[in-house]
Amino acid sequence: MIPETVPKEDVFLASAEFCKTSHVSSFDKYKELYMKSIENPGEFWGGVAKDFFWKTKHCGDFLSYNFDVTKGEIFTKFMEGATTNICYNLLDRNVHEKNLGNKVAFFWEGNEPGDALTITYRELLQKVCQFANVLKTQGVKKGDRVSIYMPMVVELVVAMLACARIGAVHSIVFAGFSAESLCERIMDSECSLLITADGFYRGDKLINLKLLADDALQKCKDKGFAVSRCIVLKHLSKGAEEGSQSPPAKRSCPDLQDNLTGRVKKRRPVPQVPWNPEVDQCWHTLVKGASDQCEPEWCDSEDPLFILYTSGSTGKPKGVLHTVSGYMLYTATTFRLVFDYQPDDVYWCTADIGWITGHSYITYGPLANGATSVLFEGLPTYPDVGRMWEIVDKYRVTKFYTAPTAIRLLMKYGSEPVKKHKRDSLKVLGTVGEPINPEAWQWYYSVVGEKRCPIVDTFWQTETGGHVLTPLPAATPMKPGSATFPFFGVLPAILNESGEELEGPSEGYLVFKQPWPGIMRTVYGNQMRFETTYFKKFPGYYVTGDGCKRDKDGYYWITGRIDDMLNVSGHLLSTAEVESALVEHECVAEAAVVGRPHPVKGESLYCFVTLSEGVSFSGGLESELRNLVREKIGAIATPDYIQNAPGLPKTRSGKIMRRVLRKIACGERELGDISTLADSSVVEQLFQNRCCTA
Ligand code: WT7
Repeated sequence: MIPETVPKEDVFLASAEFCKTSHVSSFDKYKELYMKSIENPGEFWGGVAKDFFWKTKHCGDFLSYNFDVTKGEIFTKFMEGATTNICYNLLDRNVHEKNLGNKVAFFWEGNEPGDALTITYRELLQKVCQFANVLKTQGVKKGDRVSIYMPMVVELVVAMLACARIGAVHSIVFAGFSAESLCERIMDSECSLLITADGFYRGDKLINLKLLADDALQKCKDKGFAVSRCIVLKHLSKGAEEGSQSPPAKRSCPDLQDNLTGRVKKRRPVPQVPWNPEVDQCWHTLVKGASDQCEPEWCDSEDPLFILYTSGSTGKPKGVLHTVSGYMLYTATTFRLVFDYQPDDVYWCTADIGWITGHSYITYGPLANGATSVLFEGLPTYPDVGRMWEIVDKYRVTKFYTAPTAIRLLMKYGSEPVKKHKRDSLKVLGTVGEPINPEAWQWYYSVVGEKRCPIVDTFWQTETGGHVLTPLPAATPMKPGSATFPFFGVLPAILNESGEELEGPSEGYLVFKQPWPGIMRTVYGNQMRFETTYFKKFPGYYVTGDGCKRDKDGYYWITGRIDDMLNVSGHLLSTAEVESALVEHECVAEAAVVGRPHPVKGESLYCFVTLSEGVSFSGGLESELRNLVREKIGAIATPDYIQNAPGLPKTRSGKIMRRVLRKIACGERELGDISTLADSSVVEQLFQNRCCTA
């Protein structure tokens, strides 16, 4: 399990000074707490729960669960019967009990340097209450699902917390997803209401979000599902007439021309905002008349908090469901200990709230601790590659959390743009999303952190709710590329193909043996899929889908996905999802998609397509297919390579040999054992047809 001692050589340590004030100051202390958390989870998490407000106490067991499919239904319940409200704990408790009303909750930094605003805990509470009242007048009730499709603005946090306040279940869809993806998610969770915005800029590029949202709602309608209300935030409204290149919309939001928000300073073309008065409602008009007092809805610990979709290996995304209390305790605790949160910190997580990282470590974890965070709308390279460090200096950021893909991207430009900025406020650096290669780790550590800041390489998933394997910055000697050891309450194991637990140095399937409070509770509307995906392969264990190695010192190293998933820039995509988009094109008979290593994105998409009889491969078709995938899924799924494949390597039973395709994509001739291949001539043909740019 946890090693008795940790190595003193070839590891990186936090400074003695850093450890002095740290919550978990040594490896021994970590070990002691860890043992307690595993042996008696109820007592451990019960202690954590004391910091929070409970309307009524829990009755019966603190924790009950079953991880074994052979013994009945899979479930996890923490503090069942207790009632609370997560929004109350994040806002009211901090404002009224902890006297943090005037503390900054968010420094919002817009896409354009100079666009910024600050919001305190008291202001956030007011806005959330007002919007919660708006939702109520729109007929949203406890348990109803609400879709949110918004850019990185304060109102996104307001919308999610307003849902939480009234016990509604938010389902946030990343604003980079396509109309088709939004439609699919709205329908799967049967959302009665959509919250969106006029549009936003990503660097120089205008994203006309409302058009995409309209398109999605039309698609839903065509499929027989009507969303009755759509609330539209005007984010880009200021100067709507002046800079506009497009003619004014025929029917536009009544309040869209005034300057209520007034935060986007630079004159930019503003999107055309089509308006359907039967469905669309203006955020600002609704909020104007709403009271800022709103009694929270007291929810059971195991009531649903949100749904967040993640790719599934069958192609259809899974609605990962998290519940109120466990998620609250877990995100609050991991945030506090993994980033070693101190009251004067300024914390910045660069993820988008549309992903789990943003849910747990922009909204819920930091606010539960009364932390001050940066909320950034823009891009790391806009207007130049020094933007991140400029923001770090501007707000004196102390804890900084980003993805390996962003680190590798900035690394390409060398250390000069970094060194132009001081960065002397930084204390802890974090990474998440994919394994970090040791070169990127070293660059992050030496250049960005100037060898002063511990790096927390946090391994976790949408499903785990929060960090599950991670260093604690003062306690864990770091090894570049290793997510090190389990967080409190998490009991990992490595299994071989036959499901036997491996001891000592070994490599195999990463699984977890018992629940921690933040683990997902089900796949929304599909308990069966939940059980099959995560618990069926090895009864008694939660299966992550990742491969893992344990070294001689007991450190865990994630080796990557072992299912049909791709990790592009820290985001999971399923090969099946992309393949089904490709075969929707009438010219495509069959498609197989594999990942090809990419220096910045981690993996890129390499697609093999077999065309229908009589169709010939052309550049035109290639770009049609590329657009089709973008349209169906979103820009993150844009194929890097599309190759004509008159035949695919298959086994005699017709199974596509992806292992072989991965080699072909990389141009590697060492194919390993191909004795099961039905027709070996297709392989040579595929090598000859390889994409010339690959
Ligand atoms: C998958 C989960 C958790 C937020 C971001 C992604 C990979 C994540 C690490 C890490 C190695 C990592 C895994 C995991 N992953 N963090 N520190 N080291 N791999 O959430 O989309 O649910 O993806 O991301 O493969 O299973 P997600």
